[in-house]
Amino acid sequence: MSQKPYIIVLGNEKGGTGKSTVSMHVIVSLLRRGFTVGSIDVDARQGTLTRYTENRKATAQKMSSPIPLAEHIPLLPSQHTSREEAAAEDQKNLEEALAKLAHNQFILIDTPGSDSPLSRAAHAMADTLVTPLNDSFIDLDMLVRLKSETMDILKPSIYAEMVWEQKKQRAIRDRGSIEWIVLRNRLSSINARNKEQMEEIMKLLSKRIGFRYLPGFGERVIFRELFLSGITVLDLEDCKMPMSLSHVSAKQELRSLIEGMGLPNVDAAAAA
Ligand SMILES: Nc1ncnc2c1ncn2[C@@H]1O[C@H](COP(=O)(O)OP(=O)(O)O)[C@@H](O)[C@H]1O
Ligand SMILES: [Mg+2]
Repeated sequence: MSQKPYIIVLGNEKGGTGKSTVSMHVIVSLLRRGFTVGSIDVDARQGTLTRYTENRKATAQKMSSPIPLAEHIPLLPSQHTSREEAAAEDQKNLEEALAKLAHNQFILIDTPGSDSPLSRAAHAMADTLVTPLNDSFIDLDMLVRLKSETMDILKPSIYAEMVWEQKKQRAIRDRGSIEWIVLRNRLSSINARNKEQMEEIMKLLSKRIGFRYLPGFGERVIFRELFLSGITVLDLEDCKMPMSLSHVSAKQELRSLIEGMGLPNVDAAAAA
């Protein structure tokens, strides 16, 4: 692993699609594979990832054998009245947080579902950007404007254009590139025809808009019910909790996601 941490950013321009849920699960997967992980909650107003981290710490303190923890920093947007100064302060705060976490192998940044200077700055830092969409045609709007009858692509969404812009900024800054992954979250048993249509559209869009498409998580209670204890399906064994068939499937989905992301030094052989 290079000395520089590998940065994963979770982002899109809509709330409730699974950014924080995917964040927690990616963090714990990496920790469980033995990596050191830092995390930044750029959505500290909502604070989902921050609360999850606190819950996990509280659980860890109660346990006899330790569960792995990430090093976490919440960041609030600058309150400066001048837009330029606010953006400069956001950039500085983000850089300082990244510097504090720089000894970790991975840093994960969870962002809010709305555009802001702080969220843009976070996007520009990404080595990999992960955008979860809910499993419905409505959410495709986040990537493109589609003509409703024919599903023809009219134009990329504002978010897709923002990602292109951040990719450009990143290339100018350090000649780095941002790999963009879009995944479908809360996959349901929608009818087979819809499913096929959605798959086809995702494939088409991935080429046109420039992202890699991964299936993501199914709609499963286990992805939300452990929030209050700050654990994930990967911690059940350590927490001496029983494992059901649905939990095994959830674990498999998580494993496919982590391995599909193509992160440095993460491969099937290192699986926990
Ligand atoms: N795969 C899933 N299965 C079941 N519930 C989910 C799943 N993904 C997310 N959720 C739930 O959906 C809600 C929104 O998810 P969250 O991760 O907070 O979205 P975001 O961070 O994009 O706003 C939360 O209540 C979360 O527990
Ligand atoms: Mg969130």
